[in-house]
Amino acid sequence: MNNLRKPVIAGNWKMYKTRDEALQFIYTVNQEVPTRDLVETVICANDVLLRDLVKRQGENLKIGAQNMHYAENGAFTGETSPLVLETTGVDYVIIGHSERRAMFSETDETVNLKLHAAIKHELTPILCVGESLEIREAGTTNEWVKNQVVKAYNNLDAKQALETIVAYEPIWAIGTGKTATPEQAEETIKAIRDVLVTLYGDVVASKIRILYGGSVNTKNVESLLAKENIDGALVGGASLDAASYLTLVKAATQK
Ligand code: 13P
Repeated sequence: MNNLRKPVIAGNWKMYKTRDEALQFIYTVNQEVPTRDLVETVICANDVLLRDLVKRQGENLKIGAQNMHYAENGAFTGETSPLVLETTGVDYVIIGHSERRAMFSETDETVNLKLHAAIKHELTPILCVGESLEIREAGTTNEWVKNQVVKAYNNLDAKQALETIVAYEPIWAIGTGKTATPEQAEETIKAIRDVLVTLYGDVVASKIRILYGGSVNTKNVESLLAKENIDGALVGGASLDAASYLTLVKAATQK
């Protein structure tokens, strides 16, 4: 294991799984999940299920949410307050997933407010950034992603930055079966780390975990994790099946 950065495998179930399916999954994974000393294993589930899943999470599997509002309360019908999310006992929250940016009007500004709110409520934010196919084809991926990172970390100090995890998820690779090559993923993730160096210096930047996401599966996980700067994965489809998810988590113990 990289001495500075423990690998993270985070499943993002999106809007999949009934309560029964979710509980069965947690039960199965808990039988075999490796120790948290080797890998941070996380499942991000639907808000309605969080309390039930946290009750059964065990020592080595932790639970996260997929989104939250930045305000503690207010007239925001249908939103989840960080204050309430904290009481479920979850440890993580995904912030700024591209599906939320595209379909629920999240902006770099709201993403920044949510990062601040997550840290205030002691939730580890998994900040998602990533480019569209148009941007990739225009050759401006790294500039785009760097800009997203700079805006997300606005007014966060180094201590707060250390509480965050970044997930680089190229939009064209999400749910499409088209994975970025390990070289493409490493190149952009290295660019993200370089921005963090500019913002916080080498020591802090070398401790922040940066994950890759986008069609990660049991076949490509090892080659992605073999890259120096890729500290784990944020996984959609391949996190829905317990056996496949466990394969990913076990692969990360070899990092
Ligand atoms: P897939 O792994 O299904 O491509 O989804 C990636 C993702 O969006 C995780 O947040």
